[in-house]
Amino acid sequence: MFTADQFVCRNGFYGPNQDFGGRYVPEVLFRGLEELEEAFEKYKNDPDFLAELAYYRRNLIGRPSPLIFAKNLTKKLGGAKIYLKNEGNNFTGSHKINHCVYHAMLAKRLGKTKIIAETGAGQHGLAVATVCVIFGLQAKIFMGQKNLEKQYPNVFWMKQLGAEVIPVTNGSQKLTDAADAALGEWINDPEAYFMLGSVVGPHPFPEIVREAQKIVGQEIKVQLRELEQKPDILPNKIIACIGGGSNAIGAFNEFLTDETVELIGVEAGGVGENPGQHASRIASKQAKTAIFEGFKSLFLLKDNGQLEDVDGIAAGLDYNGIGPIHAYLHSIGRLQVTKVFDSEVVEAFRILAQTEGILTALESAHAVAETIKQAPQMSSEKIIVVNLSGRADNYIFNIAKGIADKDFEMFCNNWKINT
Ligand SMILES: Cc1ncc(COP(=O)(O)O)c(C=O)c1O
Repeated sequence: MFTADQFVCRNGFYGPNQDFGGRYVPEVLFRGLEELEEAFEKYKNDPDFLAELAYYRRNLIGRPSPLIFAKNLTKKLGGAKIYLKNEGNNFTGSHKINHCVYHAMLAKRLGKTKIIAETGAGQHGLAVATVCVIFGLQAKIFMGQKNLEKQYPNVFWMKQLGAEVIPVTNGSQKLTDAADAALGEWINDPEAYFMLGSVVGPHPFPEIVREAQKIVGQEIKVQLRELEQKPDILPNKIIACIGGGSNAIGAFNEFLTDETVELIGVEAGGVGENPGQHASRIASKQAKTAIFEGFKSLFLLKDNGQLEDVDGIAAGLDYNGIGPIHAYLHSIGRLQVTKVFDSEVVEAFRILAQTEGILTALESAHAVAETIKQAPQMSSEKIIVVNLSGRADNYIFNIAKGIADKDFEMFCNNWKINT
């Protein structure tokens, strides 16, 4: 039996023994984090703040995002009924815009002008750059050199929006290193606002991002009841990919105390089971409790205690740590975590495209791949909701390469694009 009380953040921690979360930062950031927490507590239930948020959700982001019954996919898999929550329909193409608008509204109220952010696949970066234009803020976005090379279309758009994109050449040159570099920049410039892109980092970031994203699950509950025409119906499973965990907590949060709803997070299984070949923290059973980037959670580490390399086809899931809320939910048995391999992700992308006409982000295709495994094991009156966190646009090169499309290769050759 789960109670709402179990899921509350206390003094910045999750769990009865301060198991996960916290605020482990140098002194120079104390004031900034306290100021942010005060603003968050002051505004999160403030009627003017909520009215402005509702305005942007509806008129800018385009919420509610659609929930659609995937009738062709359901028929093909021959088991549970599958519904798709399409966050890829949002302005800028993913769920990241949900927390960026929220962050920008807080930043404005705090009188901030400079924004620092990290990005993996560039989807968070794109949303940051966009809200900075809208709210009149200056964006400095850190991105691992390897991700920058793989995701250049998003980098190009960020630059067109006036953001400064800073390549990070340290470490594995991926999301973790970008997050590290952004945190370092914030230490140098504590007056700036750190627009963190997931439910990670020191308190209160995980709570702010959860608050901004929980709308996704709230909408799922209402939309499913309308579509099924049953006032009390709940899905049997909700499946979402987990990088840091923002889209997943968005979909799950509303259902935490609805015990019949299984919550399933899907990690990047990458290309193999060995350390360095994947970004699966929980399903691989390879992560250890540690403190990095200002919070306590589960991280993939080398024997020497340093961060392990991570790999996977979707840059947004290539992260060593998992958000503290997810680590806690898993520790109390509220969250199941699985992993899928890159090859399964590419296949799931193709199946979804050819059954439902949705070109989904490779991160989201992890959730689809897990659904393809689970749905056929369930009876036809059961319901799975899959959170499609983003759309595929920025992945055109990766997908074309993944399926070895010869015509696309010729297109790249014609344009002298070296993939
Ligand atoms: C489309 C999409 N989905 C999921 C993620 C993973 O992030 P999170 O686990 O915070 O939702 C990303 C990150 O870049 C993303 O771009």
